[in-house]
Amino acid sequence: MKQAGYESDLFVFQAGEKSKTRKTKEMIEDAMLESGYRRDCCILAIGGGVVTDLAGFIAGTYGRGIPFINYATTLLAAADASVGGKTAVDTPLATNLIGLFYQPKKVYLDIATWQTLPQRQIASGLAETIKHACLADQDFFEYLKQHMDQIWTFDKDVCEHIARTNCKIKYTVVMQDERETGLREILNLGHTIGRAIETVSDYKLLHGEALAIGLAAEAELACQFGYLAKAEQDEMVQLLKEPDFRLPFLLILIGKSW
Ligand SMILES: NC(=O)c1ccc[n+]([C@@H]2O[C@H](COP(=O)([O-])OP(=O)(O)OC[C@H]3O[C@@H](n4cnc5c(N)ncnc54)[C@H](O)[C@@H]3O)[C@@H](O)[C@H]2O)c1
Repeated sequence: MKQAGYESDLFVFQAGEKSKTRKTKEMIEDAMLESGYRRDCCILAIGGGVVTDLAGFIAGTYGRGIPFINYATTLLAAADASVGGKTAVDTPLATNLIGLFYQPKKVYLDIATWQTLPQRQIASGLAETIKHACLADQDFFEYLKQHMDQIWTFDKDVCEHIARTNCKIKYTVVMQDERETGLREILNLGHTIGRAIETVSDYKLLHGEALAIGLAAEAELACQFGYLAKAEQDEMVQLLKEPDFRLPFLLILIGKSW
């Protein structure tokens, strides 16, 4: 950025969900003000979903709104968090309670960055990916079943297909209902239970791990209420187990031992 003639600074904060707070937002805003940034600046959010959610919220309120660009470096951020314009911070009560709908000007997904992610983070991102397949695209569900092994070896074609399909599914929904007045709620599949579990685990569970439990639990409810066939539920749970979500253990926790 500097070589290209832009004034720029790095604002870094402690990694992890526990940093996605109003306190961190204030700390970064104060640092930006101190460095002299005004309304003609732009935020580049480089990181996972915690960074893109927090940076987007800062961009939405700094100087009454400045542009921001997401550069997603986790599978989860590429699959979901960096696209769609939901920005927020957590509070002690629950996740994402304070925030804005505020769209990034551009989103970059760099699949090369996935290679340095711990396996647990890859599995976490796969939960959002499986969620998209379940809610929108049966072909994608089949694709994931057949190509799960190649995700772990970072096969370029498979990773690109996953990145593109995730974006396409999310973008298609968001374009029809940006502010979640109806349709966009489908993107919350698994999240009603997942977010509650994420919060009570005190963030020891990653977002995607809690979501995987939420998806399995909501599939069980859907089956009980007659919205999902038992065979479909089994397929869904089978796919959720593939990325090693420690599901058997986690499902026992919610009183069910598949
Ligand atoms: N806005 C939305 O629509 C939306 C959707 C889904 C999830 N989310 C949010 O996303 C967050 C979870 O995102 P996440 O899973 O990316 O978490 P994260 O941002 O905490 O990143 C996970 C960990 O990976 C590290 N990391 C990032 N990139 C790396 C890389 N390339 N190599 C090695 N380590 C790397 C981070 O420092 C962090 O420790 C949650 O806060 C969730 O609420 C938002």
